[in-house]
Amino acid sequence: MQVVVTKSYDESCAYVAKMFCDLVREKPDCKLGLATGGTPVPMYKKLIEACAKGEVDFSRVHTVNLDEYCGIPETHPQSYRYFMNTNLFDHINIDKANTYVAQGMGDAAANAAALEAKVREGGVADLQLLGIGNNGHIAFNEAGDTLTAEAHIEQLTESTINANARFFDSRDEVPTTAITMGMADILAAKKVVLIANGPAKADAIRGLIADGSITTHNPSTLLKLHPDVVVVIDEELAKAAGWQG
Ligand code: GLP
Repeated sequence: MQVVVTKSYDESCAYVAKMFCDLVREKPDCKLGLATGGTPVPMYKKLIEACAKGEVDFSRVHTVNLDEYCGIPETHPQSYRYFMNTNLFDHINIDKANTYVAQGMGDAAANAAALEAKVREGGVADLQLLGIGNNGHIAFNEAGDTLTAEAHIEQLTESTINANARFFDSRDEVPTTAITMGMADILAAKKVVLIANGPAKADAIRGLIADGSITTHNPSTLLKLHPDVVVVIDEELAKAAGWQG
């Protein structure tokens, strides 16, 4: 695992945006694994800027997103499909038909099976973007005694519901279940880049980068099983996580 410590969150976003732009330039028909949450938003802005300047061309790129809330329609401002459209897809020259965000409405088992199929359709992701939850969850693979390999429906923990409540009008509106790629789906990507920022992530990041231990109680630690993972954090978070370098 490579740990990149930048001077600032903005620099972290620039670093990750460059990874994506370099890949798309090198392989114009690449497959990207994308993520939601507040953390990648400024990184997506940088991709939009690069595209507007003609520095990168997304016209042949395919994408698959990690997860989606259950029970809210695509048109809901907090659905991850809506998030991806408004934070990225609407502003770059990607063909939306080549973007996939799991369905949160309807037959949950069928939706999970459809996501599972998309993970490998046309090959696995060349680069998978990840954020991290305060409890170390990646996508919506929650911390607990067990983890799931394949795409599935996950019961969200109190920690995650509380953390994500800031995006909703009230905590009661936060969905309690989500459809998510499983751990094997994430680990199948050719390369993984995780970006994190802020003191709330310090414990989770410490578990991820401090040593070689792996625990289902911090799902991000399973990334240690992957041969090509880059963790991008700023100095402040590195210090809070006790990173010695
Ligand atoms: C959600 C998403 C994760 C994301 C996490 C952290 O639970 N499913 O993919 O990493 O939130 O989000 P934030 O970046 O807003 O802290």
